[in-house]
Amino acid sequence: MAVLKVAKLGSPVLRQIATPVAPERIGSREFQQFLDDMIETMVASDGIGLAAPQVSRSEQVVVMECQGEHGFPRTILINPVITGYSPATAESWEGCLSVDNLRGKVTRPVGVRVTYLDRDGKSVELDASGLYAVCIQHEMDHLIGKLFLDRMTDFSTLTQLEEFDKHWRTEHAEVI
Ligand code: NI
Repeated sequence: MAVLKVAKLGSPVLRQIATPVAPERIGSREFQQFLDDMIETMVASDGIGLAAPQVSRSEQVVVMECQGEHGFPRTILINPVITGYSPATAESWEGCLSVDNLRGKVTRPVGVRVTYLDRDGKSVELDASGLYAVCIQHEMDHLIGKLFLDRMTDFSTLTQLEEFDKHWRTEHAEVI
């Protein structure tokens, strides 16, 4: 296992369209090791999600996990596709492991349906809501070269971490 280097805002890899993973590669030792390294990197960085372009590998791979009451189980998405959005939207704070020390409010659909391959190469359909759905959308944006900053419609909420902790600490901002 290894903690990988996280690409930061300005790195061109964060703006690329990620390529799909060939299903026959999923079972390979190298790819399985990569998934474990991504999980280790996410945990070591105190994030709840990480997309492969964030570790400079422009492939359609996402790892996510959030412990606690409003959390969600460890989920690995390979070649994910969102097939449905709830009509309702909600605004929540987001941060990103590739954007140091900034938080901002983003409005997104509260629920999504996503199909993907899991780490066994099995096809899965998942309905997610709340933080789980926010995280899926944030991570899948990384696969099309988008950051949460691009999804903000009101930059008046853009906040440095130190000020966030001072003024907004009762609200939660996950780093994804
Ligand atoms: Ni992110």
